Amino acid sequence: MFVTFEGLDGSGKTTQVELLRARLEADGREVVTAREPGGTALGEELRKLVLHGGEMTPWAEALLYAAARAELVAEVVVPALARDADVILDRYLDSSVVYQGVGRGLGLEEVLELNLRAVGGLLPDRTFVLALDPARSVARVGGRPDRIERAAESFHASVAAAYERLAELQPERILVLDGSLLPEVLAARIHEELIGHGLRRRL
Ligand code: TYD
Repeated sequence: MFVTFEGLDGSGKTTQVELLRARLEADGREVVTAREPGGTALGEELRKLVLHGGEMTPWAEALLYAAARAELVAEVVVPALARDADVILDRYLDSSVVYQGVGRGLGLEEVLELNLRAVGGLLPDRTFVLALDPARSVARVGGRPDRIERAAESFHASVAAAYERLAELQPERILVLDGSLLPEVLAARIHEELIGHGLRRRL
């Protein structure tokens, strides 16, 4: 099964990736996880450029994220799914659709199309959006924000609204959950949802 987590920075995605990994492994499954951008040698180089490099045009930004994603899918995701492992990603193409497509104004359809090409059309079985008030996201990031985190609060508000819109467009894949719930409560809800979606135990 291919599962992705989405949401604003500070919404608890990384915690949920780890909690889900633990549950699936306890069920006897092989689990592969990665964060985006990254997860491959080239991807980690691109991550440095796009998050900690200088200013760049919105299309350059979108293409760098798409390049990192193309590499991750070909090198990690497809081989893992082919050997029947589960794959959990901390962000995937929906991030580009909302941050670059809507936040940066490149167009939702245009950025989705670019990314579908980059990944050979591979969509997750299930995507969980952890919804969080944009003001709380900015507060939780704190310390040393990266290039995207430094964007104005209105940028993050448009990203949050775009996630809601995407979920309405693709309700069979994308589920929005309340990111302010206790991590364990959220993890149990996510696991239940995946069982309902056909996840089988392998013990
Ligand atoms: P992330 O790794 O979730 O941030 P952190 O390391 O702070 O937890 O993501 C890095 C940033 O990149 C985040 O602000 C969102 C942004 N991003 C995009 O704008 N487009 C994308 O396609 C992806 C994957 C991330």
